[in-house]
Amino acid sequence: MDITSNSEYLQNLLWSEPLRKPVLQTALRSLTLPEGSTGVDVGCGLGMGTRMLADIVGSTGKVIGLDYSPLFIEHARRYINHTAHEVNISYQLGDARQLPWDENVFDWACSIDFIGYSDLDIHLLLRELVRVVKPGGIIAIIAWSSQLLLPGYPLLEARLNATPAGIAPFKSHMQPAQHFLRGRRSLIQIGFPWAESQTFVGNINAPLSQEVYNAVSSLIRMRWEDSKQEVDHEVWEEYQRVCSPESPDFILNIPEYHGFFTYTMIYARVP
Ligand SMILES: C[S@@+](CC[C@H](N)C(=O)[O-])C[C@H]1O[C@@H](n2cnc3c(N)ncnc32)[C@H](O)[C@@H]1O
Repeated sequence: MDITSNSEYLQNLLWSEPLRKPVLQTALRSLTLPEGSTGVDVGCGLGMGTRMLADIVGSTGKVIGLDYSPLFIEHARRYINHTAHEVNISYQLGDARQLPWDENVFDWACSIDFIGYSDLDIHLLLRELVRVVKPGGIIAIIAWSSQLLLPGYPLLEARLNATPAGIAPFKSHMQPAQHFLRGRRSLIQIGFPWAESQTFVGNINAPLSQEVYNAVSSLIRMRWEDSKQEVDHEVWEEYQRVCSPESPDFILNIPEYHGFFTYTMIYARVP
């Protein structure tokens, strides 16, 4: 099944925006992409990152969001009409494995929660980014890298994390070198003399707005709901007690709740 044609996936992505937006904004701004520059957001989804990048390069810059899902591109285009971004954003359907551009056309290329975060070969996708970016331009891949969402239940959280869903997108049969967090090495393997990495923290502090509450509830579901077959019965019962919004012990009902998650950015200049 193509999960990106699934409206639940789209809904989860939409719900996650209030949570991810501030930390991704900090990460993208730290790249200091020049005002007026031109770049591409590969695997742009609903275009949240594309819109942030468009703000950074300003109205004299240009950002293209590329995704292979027609549904996502259609939604991303709808958002442009409601914002001031018409001038510098466009969206294009396409495959990241074979980008629809010539060599050296962009000043930079970014990818959020896609390259290194999907089953596709990281080296192939990175080579495509490099191909379309001018020498001296920036390549940056950013992905969700960890979370601590169940304060007070470290053992429960560790057990839930020790499951296929918990370690996603890493898979137990994967070579360690395929892990997103080894992305610096991947850049060096495809010809970069050096690559940087930095991790950014997103704090989740009660009182939670309704949209952050929805985002974290949906995140907990996405992360661990499929772990039932992978954990002991007692672990599953505790998960339901602590992680179900209907439960009186639902973790997000703690008035002083604090959790956090991290995004890691791996980046380099094209030699
Ligand atoms: C987890 S979503 C992230 C979307 C967006 N970057 C964000 O952060 O909200 C991954 C995206 O990669 C897209 N994608 C998956 N395979 C792709 C491919 N081969 N070429 C282009 N996009 C692809 C999916 O359609 C989806 O929109």
